[in-house]
Amino acid sequence: MKLMIKDNKQEFDYAGAMEILNLIKEKPNAVIGLATGNTPKGMYDILGDLCKEKQVDFSRVTTLNLDEYLGIESSNSGSCKSYLNKRLYTKVNLKQENIHHLNSNPEDYEKECCRYNNLINDLGGIDLLILGIGHNGHLGFNEPNTPFDSMVHICNLTDKTRTANIWSFGSKDKVPKKGVSMGIKNIMNSKRLMLLANGDSKSQIIYKALKGKVTEEVPASVLQLHNDVVVVLDREAGKIL
Ligand code: GLP
Repeated sequence: MKLMIKDNKQEFDYAGAMEILNLIKEKPNAVIGLATGNTPKGMYDILGDLCKEKQVDFSRVTTLNLDEYLGIESSNSGSCKSYLNKRLYTKVNLKQENIHHLNSNPEDYEKECCRYNNLINDLGGIDLLILGIGHNGHLGFNEPNTPFDSMVHICNLTDKTRTANIWSFGSKDKVPKKGVSMGIKNIMNSKRLMLLANGDSKSQIIYKALKGKVTEEVPASVLQLHNDVVVVLDREAGKIL
């Protein structure tokens, strides 16, 4: 595990963006999995700027989103698709046909999970998957006690997760109760993982995830079993490591 602890938010955002930039330089047709949430916002902004300055070319890159809320239109401003559309797709030269998403309103939930599992396989797997971490250790929408062998699946969101995501929807009653997410096995099958966490409120869970027991009770603890993980933290998130 490669651990980077950055002095401030700006350096933290930059370090995340550089990992992506370096991968694309090495492999212009990389398949990249994308997390949403507050944590990577600044990193996506930097990628937009780098693309504008022509330092990074996304024209052969393929993206897949990590997770999505269920039971809302994809155009809902709180959806992960809207988030990535606003922060990345409209800022870099990704080709529309290379942008893949979990559907937030599929007719058949199980079929949607199968479609996405097959898609990940058909694309040859994920070269780099970007992850945030929930305060309870969730990865994507894999809440505590999700089996480590889970593939793309429907998830019940905990009250804590719904509260943490009020910012996306404006009020708690608008935050969906279900989501769909790559499973822990899809995450672990990715060739490289990048975990991002910033701020004091993430310090305890970062310690548990990286130094604690590997257990399904702390989904992110599974990362200790992956052989190519980059962890990017700011000082606050890394303060008890
Ligand atoms: C959310 C998302 C995850 C995200 C995580 C951390 O619930 N489903 O994809 O990585 O929680 O979010 P944040 O970065 O806002 O703390």
